[in-house]
Amino acid sequence: MPEARSSWKSNIGFLLAAIGSAIGLGNVWRFSYMAHEHGGGAFLIPYLVALLLAGVPIMLLEYGLGHMEKGSSPLSLARIGAKHEWLGWWMPVVAMFGIMLFYSVVIGWCVNYLFFSFTLSWGADTQTFFFSNFLQLSDSAAHLGGIRVPIAFATLLVWVLCWLICFRDIRHGIERASMIFMPALFLLTIIIVVWTVNLDGAADAIKNHYLHADWSKINLFASDPEARMKAGKVWAAAFGQIFFTLSLGFGIMITYASYLPEKSNIARNAVITTIVNCLFSFIAGFAVFGIVGFMAHSQNVPFGEAIKGGPQLAFVVYPKAISMLPSMNVLFGILFFLMLVIAGLTSGVSLIEAFACSLTDKFDWSRRRVVTVICIIGFLGSIIFTTRAGLYLLDIADHFITNYGLVLGGLLECIIAGWIVKAVILRKYISSQGSKVPVIWDFFIKFTTPAILLYLLYISLADDLKNNYSDYPTDQLILFGGGWLLICLIVALAFAFSPWKPEKLKRRHLPEEDELLV
Ligand code: ALA
Repeated sequence: MPEARSSWKSNIGFLLAAIGSAIGLGNVWRFSYMAHEHGGGAFLIPYLVALLLAGVPIMLLEYGLGHMEKGSSPLSLARIGAKHEWLGWWMPVVAMFGIMLFYSVVIGWCVNYLFFSFTLSWGADTQTFFFSNFLQLSDSAAHLGGIRVPIAFATLLVWVLCWLICFRDIRHGIERASMIFMPALFLLTIIIVVWTVNLDGAADAIKNHYLHADWSKINLFASDPEARMKAGKVWAAAFGQIFFTLSLGFGIMITYASYLPEKSNIARNAVITTIVNCLFSFIAGFAVFGIVGFMAHSQNVPFGEAIKGGPQLAFVVYPKAISMLPSMNVLFGILFFLMLVIAGLTSGVSLIEAFACSLTDKFDWSRRRVVTVICIIGFLGSIIFTTRAGLYLLDIADHFITNYGLVLGGLLECIIAGWIVKAVILRKYISSQGSKVPVIWDFFIKFTTPAILLYLLYISLADDLKNNYSDYPTDQLILFGGGWLLICLIVALAFAFSPWKPEKLKRRHLPEEDELLV
């Protein structure tokens, strides 16, 4: 006997869970570093354009599709047409096996650093501590060099916490956890931002490096072809960041919307989710730029020398700055890493949920059993990222999965929603649920957004073929990047291959009926 489908208890519970999925590790340091790297305040322009041209339209699409078809991404797409089902699997498979496997390890690092905060055990040389003592980084991605036990334990703890939350149905698991975690996350962030902007040197760094715009870096019409290519990469980075940060192309938002009751204001929910997420990134940027400014000021070095990218920002720059604070260093460290753990967990559970719901929708297996099995498999799969080569592997996997996996998912989603379901029908359906969606949305979903995503794929591919990503050897990129994507594709096709019970594929709304909805 299949279990009844759960639903959100309240709209605010849904919103907090969806915002929790969106706000994650990517908002705190990925966004800030990108802003610095790509022209400071000028980066906000491609970021906002990406938000308007891809973020909001695809959020509406995913919410609309999930709500209209009342299913996880494989079920929703299979109801539209059997041949689209593989894409429905591709997205949650990429979320679960492409992203969650390394995402859980990074949350694990945050757990480790949360404990280190109590004694500031990273010492004065945080760079050596992170790479040599903590990660014990091997010399290349090909040399795994054995498991780092403290990281593996912290990763296990992360999977156990995710399991505890996802084990129960959506209303008693993810919704309840989000109602507690999200207000706590907002509160922690406000404390950290207010604390940071008041430090010496913070205000100047924010003004001169975060809110200051270097327009030449985003000029797509520069006369120099090299500068044009570089600007193209900045725009591509902004679109990639919007996908990652809004959890689009993962199947998550389709699944979350499928748990909404009839008559839910989808358009309003989509706008709130995107605005709160991007505002969070913008505000968190003040804390990141502020603390780097404080550090540069205290050490009397230029800002550009103090800031570092990727994981180094949270695990090298921040610990160093925390040690240098004039007072209450331990408390600041605990609050900061607790904030990262909470932000990571609320995104992590959504990555698991998209895949778990796909399995229960298709096979009618018990949710508890599915969640237990995938958390065990997930933990075992993440072990590779807890090895001494973990940092290289996650860097390569992140690059390929984000730039190709998510963007490709989003592109195909637009084509199916825009041309097969038909944008006008989906738009009328969403509008019939509350706030109206403007007609221009049809144009975005059918033409603008897919064209931009296609261009983005081209830019990423052209750049990767020309300059090996981050100078990794080609065989390692093919094996750990391309190979990873290929495995995700094979798993997606395998799941799509088994047949559905015919009654499951009955569409709740026939397009002809929807056309009558105004
Ligand atoms: N949206 C999540 C993040 O930004 C995955 O980290």
